[in-house]
Amino acid sequence: MTKAASLPSEITSALPSGYTIRELRKTDKSEVLSVLAVLTTVGEITDSDWDERFEYISKHDDTYTILCIVDDKGKVCATGSLIVERKFIRNCGLVGHIEDIAVAKDQQGKKLGLRMINALDHIAEKAGCYKSILDCSESNRGFYEKCGFKFAGIEMAHYY
Ligand code: ACO
Repeated sequence: MTKAASLPSEITSALPSGYTIRELRKTDKSEVLSVLAVLTTVGEITDSDWDERFEYISKHDDTYTILCIVDDKGKVCATGSLIVERKFIRNCGLVGHIEDIAVAKDQQGKKLGLRMINALDHIAEKAGCYKSILDCSESNRGFYEKCGFKFAGIEMAHYY
């Protein structure tokens, strides 16, 4: 069973009527990249760039999960990722990193972001993570607090 197929019905049945949540497919390229454009610069991704990255992620599915919420016509309207980090500390503990949460502009406000976080959180917990963490801007703090996250420090970055 896929990770998305084993999500509890409290999450899947709370989606708007006709909407479903599933794992990323190779055929999602243009729809997912256009949803991600609400988040940041996506760049010019060729088909071979996409295929190579998709194959890598699929091969490492114990580390990567990328979910999509699709509407009643099968169009991707939200996406989000979970990366499971394997540590030595905390008895070789696992930490979930929630990344690249994006809901298409015309689909925002329907609780798709919340359901996406609920789903990734569930998968992280099932994978054995002792916590999940994420970085966000101050303007999204209220959203993540509504998803059950607590402020826990500041984000630092060194861009190359
Ligand atoms: N600040 C405060 N509260 C918010 C915000 C916000 N920016 N956005 C949503 N909420 C609230 C909603 O009002 C709702 O509250 P309610 O339960 O009281 O009604 C609750 O949070 C759930 O909102 P959703 O409808 O699930 O939000 P949505 O589906 O629109 O998704 C998201 C929110 C992901 C921030 C979306 O607006 C988006 O894609 N924004 C652009 C990209 C982005 O900033 N992504 C997050 C980057 S951080 C990361 O990826 C780790």
